[in-house]
Amino acid sequence: MIIAVDGPTASGKGTIAKALSAHFGVPHLDTGLLYRAVGRQVLLAGGDPGDPDDALAACRFEDALLEDPVLRDEETGGLASRVSVHPPVREALFARQRAFATQDGGAVLDGRDIGTVIAPEAAAKLFITASVEARAHRRFLEMRERGVKVALIEIQDDLRRRDERDRNRSVAPLRPAEDAMVIDTSALDRDEAIAAAIEAVTFAM
Ligand code: C5P
Repeated sequence: MIIAVDGPTASGKGTIAKALSAHFGVPHLDTGLLYRAVGRQVLLAGGDPGDPDDALAACRFEDALLEDPVLRDEETGGLASRVSVHPPVREALFARQRAFATQDGGAVLDGRDIGTVIAPEAAAKLFITASVEARAHRRFLEMRERGVKVALIEIQDDLRRRDERDRNRSVAPLRPAEDAMVIDTSALDRDEAIAAAIEAVTFAM
């Protein structure tokens, strides 16, 4: 039982994937974290995220890096989005994601290309989306809670830039798989979004 959860930044896909993991009792992999680790590693190595060779070299990051809270920050999200356009980077991270997806007992993976590239055979494919305004507002509240001061308009601009890059890259662009169930969380709160996702997965099984 593979559950693929794709969608843009701050759509709620991470929260939904975690809830599905708990509900169905299968392990969860946040694949964005792998790209974030590569982005951070490029910086640590003094490389250029726009350079495919530097980005590929950074795919050999230490696993301990995945535990570092710095991976969650906005700067690292931007770096991740930049390194993720390089096909060799996507290839280098493929085996690890594939192995997780195909482990005995099933798995939930969230990302951008799980239903299209990593596990096209997934039993349930969800594409979680929401308006830029709703996503920016959520990110804004999240950041304010963490004590980070940033203007809503800046968050919106940053989300738009990342959406652009994720949708328009030549390899594994962000798009719903043909057989994905699309859930728009713009008007849903956390519990409603989770309930809709559980219902969709149950229906697909
Ligand atoms: O989901 P998250 O915001 O952590 O992802 C960071 C970046 O990593 C995304 O903007 C995207 O460019 C990239 N990514 C990807 N494919 C995935 C997961 C993330 O290209 N499966």
